[in-house]
Amino acid sequence: MSSKLVACTFGFLWALGHGLPQVATSLTFNEPKFDLVKNAVSSTTTSAISSATPLLQNFAVYPPVTTPADDDCTVLLMDYHFAYSYGAPYVGTYTPPNCKFNRVSMNFTVTSSGRQFDRLALMYFNDTEVWRTSTAEPTTNGIVWTYVKDMTEYMYFWNSSQKLIFDLGNIVSSTYTGIFNTTLTATFFTAQETADSADLILPVSARQGNNNKGSVYMIPSANATNTFTIPRNVNRAVFAVSANGQSTEEFWWANVLQSDVESFQAVDGTLYGFSPFREVQVFIDGDLAGVQWPFPVIFTGGVVPGLWRPIAGIDTFDLREHEIDITPWLGVLCNGEEHTFEIKVAGVLDDGEGSGVLTETVGASWYVTGKLFLWLDSNSKSITTGAKPLALLPAPTIKTSQKLTTDSTGANETLEYTIDVTRDMSVSSLIKSQAGVGLQTWTQALSATNYGKYTQYGAVQQNNQTTHGKDVSTGRTPYASTYTYPLYALSTYLVQPDGTDFTLDAQLIQGNDLVITGSSVFPNGLQPFSNISSASSLVSGLSGTSLSTTLEGTAHYLSGPGGSSGYGSTSQVMKFYGLSATNNAIDTELYYRSVAAVNTTVVSDVEKLAGKETSFTFNGALPKTQGVFGISSSKEATGRGLGSVKEDLISSGH
Ligand SMILES: *[C@@H]1O[C@H](CO)[C@@H](O)[C@H](O)[C@H]1NC(C)=O
Ligand SMILES: *[C@@H]1O[C@H](CO)[C@@H](O)[C@H](O)[C@H]1NC(C)=O
Ligand SMILES: *[C@@H]1O[C@H](CO)[C@@H](O)[C@H](O)[C@H]1NC(C)=O
Ligand SMILES: *[C@@H]1O[C@H](CO)[C@@H](O)[C@H](O)[C@H]1NC(C)=O
Ligand SMILES: *[C@@H]1O[C@H](CO)[C@@H](O)[C@H](O)[C@H]1NC(C)=O
Ligand SMILES: *[C@@H]1O[C@H](CO)[C@@H](O)[C@H](O)[C@H]1NC(C)=O
Ligand SMILES: *[C@@H]1O[C@H](CO)[C@@H](O)[C@H](O)[C@H]1NC(C)=O
Ligand SMILES: *[C@@H]1O[C@H](CO)[C@@H](O)[C@H](O)[C@H]1NC(C)=O
Ligand SMILES: *[C@@H]1O[C@H](CO)[C@@H](O)[C@H](O)[C@H]1NC(C)=O
Repeated sequence: MSSKLVACTFGFLWALGHGLPQVATSLTFNEPKFDLVKNAVSSTTTSAISSATPLLQNFAVYPPVTTPADDDCTVLLMDYHFAYSYGAPYVGTYTPPNCKFNRVSMNFTVTSSGRQFDRLALMYFNDTEVWRTSTAEPTTNGIVWTYVKDMTEYMYFWNSSQKLIFDLGNIVSSTYTGIFNTTLTATFFTAQETADSADLILPVSARQGNNNKGSVYMIPSANATNTFTIPRNVNRAVFAVSANGQSTEEFWWANVLQSDVESFQAVDGTLYGFSPFREVQVFIDGDLAGVQWPFPVIFTGGVVPGLWRPIAGIDTFDLREHEIDITPWLGVLCNGEEHTFEIKVAGVLDDGEGSGVLTETVGASWYVTGKLFLWLDSNSKSITTGAKPLALLPAPTIKTSQKLTTDSTGANETLEYTIDVTRDMSVSSLIKSQAGVGLQTWTQALSATNYGKYTQYGAVQQNNQTTHGKDVSTGRTPYASTYTYPLYALSTYLVQPDGTDFTLDAQLIQGNDLVITGSSVFPNGLQPFSNISSASSLVSGLSGTSLSTTLEGTAHYLSGPGGSSGYGSTSQVMKFYGLSATNNAIDTELYYRSVAAVNTTVVSDVEKLAGKETSFTFNGALPKTQGVFGISSSKEATGRGLGSVKEDLISSGH
């Protein structure tokens, strides 16, 4: 126990002393110092850059977004190198092209070389966030990746000129040399089926577009609240919320119960708390309108970086937004007066005796924005009416358990804890608009189970959680989404006997099962298949989609003064189906991919696009390492509460 204690503490000091000061001295902003310690940094090798070495191809696994082969209507939106860009986003102008279109897709292609953390990036049209992505971590020889995204839901913006703000906050120094060279293009084309895009999109954001800044709110230090009027002739309204945790909240899914945060104080400092459960909440005039139980996005430096090279995690290159149908509120919202929209993030404050309550605050920070997608009646004079919705909002059921064991000296040695939360809610009202009169109902049924276990005084950490939800909107424009997010992570942090090196080993299994039917605001992924001749007949008559993916990986990381190294293996399987219009059953396989990578090399890759199969098997010799990594500390890499180290940085940064 005592050797462990000393060794761990030394590990943190080492990280502090070796990696951070050069960067910390140049910090004048409020948030980026969190980024500096949140994750292990990317690798760099000691060998000189070889210009003959091709860039390593990084990628995410996702269903294809295709554009017609003969298309020639592509516009360059951004060609920009993000060097020291924290607080200084790219600002440009988008002008609509001279061609007809009813669909738009974007291509974001990035190259980078050197050493760098993963970085979050938010794209805005003026004050409205339209895309959230994050970067892969570069290598000395350089990496490249492309992400293609259907952006048709933003037709309201694409139809006219916009201020484009792309906020990729990067920090470079003599140590963190990676610059992100980016190219963003948009391709405009006409598909047979026309998407029913919103007529108006209004932001709930910090509204900093006029100042050429990003408009994200960081809560809890800011309140994510906007008050404004909306047109009176709205017949459908959907609130989309975009939210993810950073710094002390990046690995919220591995946080402990609040009553356990001091369990390993002597070894690990104060752990991050508020439980491993989070709820993003949307309020209208102070009333809860809907919630998002977030998907645990893991960035490319997360847990152990070797997991994510070259395969990025699920949703890491495209952080999914959550849709909340607020059509039942239109009777209230269309009264011509101002209304307040607020986004909050809650965790759980447990009583140490098996129960708990949702909190009003969490750790710092959650990056949030929202927006209203609004569909208008053709008659601009028509006024939508209806009563304030009837809301059934029983408090969530929260059950916790915890068990600490001590060693012979009385020190805490192991901690086991669980938190299970369930919540059901529904909001409904009779809404009358030019489009018709009918009962509009929004329901959500959610459950989350979390199991956490620390052993060896916190050196070994295991988390196993599953979030399950079903959101249903009934009325004029039905929509339903069923989702399951399983996540298992096991990480072991071992300090070497001389106290100067540490190793990290991790095993991770993560999944996302997502079934969508009806009119989602965000594209459900079917459209690209209607333009593939072998698939277009398959797609007509489908009622929805089923996406199911599982990613599994193991990785190792060794850090110390003599240099650091790492390696890993990751595999991912994705199945994307169309649902039968007659019974919503899983019907037609549209896309399948099973890919595996070992030590940065893709070793097998089977892909089926509308039944057409391609496959690849690697037969060469595998590299034995991913290179030499930069600084890290156990908590940076594992997401265990960073306690004292981070607090030191925070205070020294101000
Ligand atoms: C995306 O754009 C890059 C150039 O920026 C190009 O090389 C690549 O072929 C494009 N990919 C797709 C799928 O359009
Ligand atoms: C990024 O752009 C700079 C400047 O043009 C160039 O020197 C560098 O090689 C580029 N990086 C990569 C990885 O392509
Ligand atoms: C965009 O412009 C097209 C062509 O003028 C029009 O048909 C469509 O309704 C517009 N969409 C939105 C959301 O403004
Ligand atoms: C950006 O938003 C501000 C206020 O939110 C508005 O005054 C301005 O006109 C907008 N600019 C553009 C180009 O839409
Ligand atoms: C957020 O709202 C609360 C409650 O109204 C208030 O006490 C607090 O000062 C606000 N914080 C900020 C940063 O505006
Ligand atoms: C053991 O854990 C409990 C609960 O977190 C904490 O109150 C106590 O201070 C810890 N004991 C030691 C010796 O760290
Ligand atoms: C995680 O928990 C689920 C539900 O209890 C269980 O079925 C699964 O086997 C666990 N996974 C691991 C890797 O222990
Ligand atoms: C794909 O789109 C192009 C352009 O709109 C169209 O000409 C072509 O017929 C489409 N192909 C299929 C199979 O739908
Ligand atoms: C990956 O690299 C590690 C470290 O050199 C090595 O031990 C391992 O055998 C490699 N994996 C394979 C499949 O070659």
